[in-house]
Amino acid sequence: GKERTLAMVKPDGVSGSYTEEIKRIIVEASFNIVNEMLTQLDKEAASAFYDEHSSRSFFPDLVAYMTSGPVLVMVLEKTDAVSDWRGLIGPTDARKAKISHPRSIRALYGKDSQRNCVHGSDSTSSAEREIKFFFKDLVSGDIASQH
Ligand code: CMP
Repeated sequence: GKERTLAMVKPDGVSGSYTEEIKRIIVEASFNIVNEMLTQLDKEAASAFYDEHSSRSFFPDLVAYMTSGPVLVMVLEKTDAVSDWRGLIGPTDARKAKISHPRSIRALYGKDSQRNCVHGSDSTSSAEREIKFFFKDLVSGDIASQH
């Protein structure tokens, strides 16, 4: 059924001016952009957002990267939004994406396993948490007031 997911254009995507291209891909894939916000993450926010990765060796670099410039966060809605957005962005490592999924957003605009240009929630429960993280007033079911 209809789902929502959190999409993010990361600092390399915003500074590389890929936002318009990515939004065109989103709209052409029949997602409805329910809400969007350009914001700057501080260290605390980036650490909290990626808390599940806090024990990984790449975590300090990830936080530095995610706080290096503004990000565009969007709530996307369509049938099967979570898995469809993950499919559209492609594998985490943009270098691998360029080989296995050359038309994916990470293949087109990403650089490597860290600077992969975009984020997508990996499950419906992650989507719920991540949407609340950025859009505290956007509760599930409250669709009409957003249009
Ligand atoms: P994302 O899908 O937003 O979720 C976690 C992020 O951590 C990921 O994209 C990358 O930006 C980063 N990441 C994941 N794996 C690695 C890795 N092996 N090395 C460096 N960064 C990584």
